[in-house]
Amino acid sequence: MNMHAAALAKAHRFDEPTSAFAGDVIEGLSQPAKRLPPKYFYDAKGSELFEQITRLPEYYPTRTELGILRERGAEICGILGQAAALVEFGAGSTTKVRLLLERCRFAAYVPVDISGDFLNAQARALRKDFPTLDVYPVTADFTAPFTLPAPVKAMAKVGFFPGSTIGNFEPDEANSFLRSARKILGDGAQMVVGVDLEKDERVLHAAYNDAAGVTARFNLNVLVRINEELGGNFDLAAFSHRAIYNREHHRIEMHLVSRKAQTVRILGRSFAFRAGETIHTESSYKYSLDRFAALARDAGWRPMASWTDAAGMFSVHALVSGA
Ligand code: AVI
Repeated sequence: MNMHAAALAKAHRFDEPTSAFAGDVIEGLSQPAKRLPPKYFYDAKGSELFEQITRLPEYYPTRTELGILRERGAEICGILGQAAALVEFGAGSTTKVRLLLERCRFAAYVPVDISGDFLNAQARALRKDFPTLDVYPVTADFTAPFTLPAPVKAMAKVGFFPGSTIGNFEPDEANSFLRSARKILGDGAQMVVGVDLEKDERVLHAAYNDAAGVTARFNLNVLVRINEELGGNFDLAAFSHRAIYNREHHRIEMHLVSRKAQTVRILGRSFAFRAGETIHTESSYKYSLDRFAALARDAGWRPMASWTDAAGMFSVHALVSGA
């Protein structure tokens, strides 16, 4: 917990997650270029909005990755270790992992997520549908070190990180995450990672500025959370969603744009916004196959194979630990 968070927790009797949220908000909005970490999109409402995003006609990543897993799943399983434990970093809907569980012979499944209730509900459903599979949910922040359950320690390990969530990490964070995953999974581990690819900017622009405005609601949800959980007074109508492609950095950037000069108060502090000033709320990096392979190599993984859809929109990579 940082200094701000510790002081705020004391003054407001916040629980630990709320004071960490408070500390990150105060710190992010105090920067000359205001920003908020994208992980705060995902409360119950934000997770539901993200589920809606995955079904939007413009948002190609989810259905494209599902298509690759469905069509190339047998091939993917062919290069993965037998009777391994599949460790999923973050556990959203089970649709993707089911495609692997149906096609590969895993001995155990270890979903790792910060939300324990959600994980346990998922584990119950999977145990019912895969009666011979041992499911060991781990409640933890998967970006930090955690310990694998004792029964899977002696098994071969395969990490699973779908959805191009790796694209929401800054390149140095993606490197740290892959290094940490290698440590957690151990020597000889393999990893399957879903990675969104660079493409026509118009396609990217449409995917993050959908006509129905769901992505806009998802983006604004972080301000709703600040108002509800930290007693902020953001006027939601005074901020608008903007997503742009930053060509130099190969990333979509999501921003919340202040429609006018205004001051917002949060936890007794004031934050002044100029008209047009933005809060950078998320980056979604887009890779080429080679740039992702180089990132993986830098983090101590050797690329084994990669698969894309016919149009080259999205990719799935198999990696093995060790140079
Ligand atoms: C979760 N993540 C991979 C999504 C993405 O595409 O970067 C989050 C998202 N942001 C806006 N739309 C979807």
